[in-house]
Amino acid sequence: MKPSNALLYFILLIMTSCGQPKVVEPEVYTYVEESHSYAKPNNAFITHLKLDISVNFETEIISGTATYDIKNNNSTQIVLDSKHLDIESVTADGKETEFSLGAKDKQLGQALTVTIGKNTKQIEIVYKTTKDTEALQWLKAQQTADKTHPFLFTQGQAILTRTWIPIQDSPQIRLTYEANVKVPKGLMAVMSAENPKEKSQDGLYHFKMKQPIPAYLIALAVGSFEYKAISERTGVYAEKTMLTKVHDEFSDMDKMVAAAEALYGKYAWDQFDVIVLPPSFPFGGMENPRLTFATPTVIAGDKSLTSLIAHELAHSWSGNLVTNATWNDFWLNEGFTVYFEMRIMEALYGKERADMLALISRQDLDEELESLKDTPNATKLKLDLKGKNPDDGMNSIAYDKGYLLLRTLEETVGRDKFDAFLKQYFKEHAFSTMTTEKFGTYLNTNLLEKHQITFNMDEWINQPGVPENQAVINSDKFTNVKRTLEEFLTTGKIDTSITTEWTSQEWVYFIRNFPKTMTVDQMKHLDSAFNFTNSSNSYIQMVWYEQALNHDYHGNNVDQKIEAFLTSVGRRWYVETIFKAFKRNNRLEDALKIYEKSRPNYHSVTATTIDDLLGYEPEPEEEELLK
Ligand code: BES
Ligand code: ZN
Repeated sequence: MKPSNALLYFILLIMTSCGQPKVVEPEVYTYVEESHSYAKPNNAFITHLKLDISVNFETEIISGTATYDIKNNNSTQIVLDSKHLDIESVTADGKETEFSLGAKDKQLGQALTVTIGKNTKQIEIVYKTTKDTEALQWLKAQQTADKTHPFLFTQGQAILTRTWIPIQDSPQIRLTYEANVKVPKGLMAVMSAENPKEKSQDGLYHFKMKQPIPAYLIALAVGSFEYKAISERTGVYAEKTMLTKVHDEFSDMDKMVAAAEALYGKYAWDQFDVIVLPPSFPFGGMENPRLTFATPTVIAGDKSLTSLIAHELAHSWSGNLVTNATWNDFWLNEGFTVYFEMRIMEALYGKERADMLALISRQDLDEELESLKDTPNATKLKLDLKGKNPDDGMNSIAYDKGYLLLRTLEETVGRDKFDAFLKQYFKEHAFSTMTTEKFGTYLNTNLLEKHQITFNMDEWINQPGVPENQAVINSDKFTNVKRTLEEFLTTGKIDTSITTEWTSQEWVYFIRNFPKTMTVDQMKHLDSAFNFTNSSNSYIQMVWYEQALNHDYHGNNVDQKIEAFLTSVGRRWYVETIFKAFKRNNRLEDALKIYEKSRPNYHSVTATTIDDLLGYEPEPEEEELLK
């Protein structure tokens, strides 16, 4: 390793034999060139962040100071990422120092270069967020469940943390953090850190994250919510009117943690809580350490959509403990996590349920391959996102092809060997980063060569599409669903004694597999039998609304329901699927009419995606808000 290429990393937490994190110093690792951060960590890098900020709901601005402990490798500059931030002043070891902001890049923002001395240990930045901040979504009371208090949440992944904190925003740079956060009295604040369980009297909160994490995992939510424990180490935060429902829905969380630990080693983050956010949250879930952020659309009342929790929990190993070194290696985060999610679901609920989830993933993969057929490079696991917003390159290939690769490996080498390998992999690379190439080498040495197995890893990683040796996924439950659907299509009848037993996965599979030739009458028949239009399960709603659009079905007031769904839910995957269906079925005008109304409820990541999809150009003031 060239010294110029080596990054001194003064705390490396490793897992000791008893499983407790231990601090070892100093350590060295290689910084891989990447195109989504201006940071030059070989010169100087942040090891610890202390935030002193206040959250103002009237001005919709966060302001305060950020103090950084830095490691300086004899440099006279430290470079941070910043985007749409108002930098007021900077000090180095207590004395005012010079700083400059580089040219603006639409995706990356600006390099913030601070002059430091060769012995500088600490810098401090006084700053404010602006109206253009992309990470933050400020919600009015009306946009929440209780409709009594405003709400704020952040979304950092992939490169948005720099829009609310000046930071070295590369997944390769890990830091610990603490924060003093002032919010209006009567509101509670939580972060991806040690969290309060009750509201404070004065609106002041203190946080500490003692394990080093990449910047994209720094997160904050502010609103009126309460905590309810599930076990000593798991629990939920939700608005008052939802708390009991949320608690019931996620009551298996502790069992999930236990199942995950049995597979791949001790949970490294002490506490595993989930906060259910307002419905505009742009993702199903986000794996912020110690505190997963989740959409309320998974609260179905029957625990049928809780694989999302298994997924975000799995990131506590794949992603948060062993982190993709660059966004080109995103499949290392998501593919591993989907594989792990399926294993947790299998451990808790059995093989039948896991098989259904796996086959849904397989079908998602086919759909994604079809939609990317003109851009085959986008179907490679190793991506090339240079010059692109990483958010645009993150399609479901990383998830579903990544999953299929790992499942294929499992079937090739056998589950016992694969599990032992993965457990070792997480243990050896805890609190560090991984590239696709480094993983390939590790896999070769520790699994394939060890057991004399040949495997076409290069084809899986660097070629488009799916190799021949892919695992074949079957589900008996879904075979029955297909049979029921075919019977209905030929006889016009459906045996409801079979369907009463169906889970939401079976319904989703049933609806998604309607043939092109499905008629409006058949749609009507099914809707009167099962009332899909008014389903209380968001996943069923999404796939049904897509089919209503595909088959020109307008019964049961479905058009109004679709509009209501799109104006209340901001989960990007749902919203995008439905708007794509409008577009595919030549109903762009209708889509734009709805979008005018729904857009103000969307977080910037959803709005950006839908703007592109529908060719929507926001009015200038609104653009200022969502840029
Ligand atoms: N980390 C992702 C969400 C994400 C990905 C945010 C890329 C920003 C950029 C999260 O773990 C995730 O995958 N969420 C999925 C859940 C699902 C696959 C169970 C989602 O939001 O739908
Ligand atoms: Zn994920």
